Amino acid sequence: EKDGYEHFMMKEIHEQPKGLYETLTRRLNEDDTINLDGISMTKEDIENFNKVYIVACGTAYHAGLVGKAAIEKMARIPVEVDIASEFRYRDPFVDENTLFIAISQSGETLDTLAALREAKRKGARILSVVNVVGSSVARESDDVFYTWAGPEIAVASTKAYTTQLMCMYLLGLYMGHTKGVIDKDYYARFIEELKAIPDKLTELLKTEKEIEKIAKKYCRKEQVFFIGRGVDSGVSYEGSLKLKEISYINSFAIAAGELKHGTIALIEEDTLVFALATQDFLFEKMLSNIQEIKARGANVVGVAKEGNSEIEKQSTEVIYIPDCMDEVTPLLSVVPLQLFAYYVAKFRGCNIDKPKNLAKSVTVE
Ligand code: F6R
Repeated sequence: EKDGYEHFMMKEIHEQPKGLYETLTRRLNEDDTINLDGISMTKEDIENFNKVYIVACGTAYHAGLVGKAAIEKMARIPVEVDIASEFRYRDPFVDENTLFIAISQSGETLDTLAALREAKRKGARILSVVNVVGSSVARESDDVFYTWAGPEIAVASTKAYTTQLMCMYLLGLYMGHTKGVIDKDYYARFIEELKAIPDKLTELLKTEKEIEKIAKKYCRKEQVFFIGRGVDSGVSYEGSLKLKEISYINSFAIAAGELKHGTIALIEEDTLVFALATQDFLFEKMLSNIQEIKARGANVVGVAKEGNSEIEKQSTEVIYIPDCMDEVTPLLSVVPLQLFAYYVAKFRGCNIDKPKNLAKSVTVE
């Protein structure tokens, strides 16, 4: 059942090209328009939404951070992302003109379900992004956008995250296109980028051995930092969570520009920092952040797009992802971080598929 892989997590990491292909093609028409069949969202509905809330927990919340960037950019609607257990207790501004998006792999996370019920009570339209068909979140939503990741067994979420990202891009594109606020050429280019992702990911997975080497070198570290700007900061949170949950290493993610406001005090000789620098328009800014931490003697693993080799001067190691448009890099850049967490956990002898004290779905508050 593990298809020859030693762990479900590794199998699921390798299933991501397929999951992304499925999630995309089920929503794409021949003429590259997006079909949201089974989801009722008219032009009028979209025009009436004056706010979007994305609410989720853990990895699904991290997918929401990227979703915010996508929907705001493409559909021009303000988006708030919230952690389900926080949203519930703060009397959020939700009404009939709010689109509430719950993201959940299992569809059974109690905090997410309770937040959904609260938004529903206040009159919001409820759309959920769910992997498990017929789950509680799916049943209680007005509409469901399914991720086609297939069953996810490992406690650490991998393919659910990337397919959730795909749903968010498609939703943003659909809303922007229907509303008429997205540039035609940009739309066409974006769809082409999404179509190219499964193959690029397959290519990227071939660099697994390099990541294994990096993991071997650093597996005894007691703490690891992840930094990035823009969508790279969202991916940093996800990379950090993966590492914590399966390898039990203390890890911390922070928006790179925020480092200098305090956290940089923790960066010293030999501290390990993953610096995500995949955004072309933020690349120079990231290089100066990397320089700052390098000056303190840190080991820097840079993550950048192929071709941006300038990063090599500042980094101890560099992991390249295939070239693609800035917006979609999270679909690729998260994968080396998943692999790093996997191999570090393996070298430390951890129980990868079933980390201690964690359950696959959290049905308590
Ligand atoms: C991390 C992880 C958790 C879940 C979170 C939400 O790898 O698996 O952080 O993402 O518990 O679960 P779902 O998506 O089932 O609501």
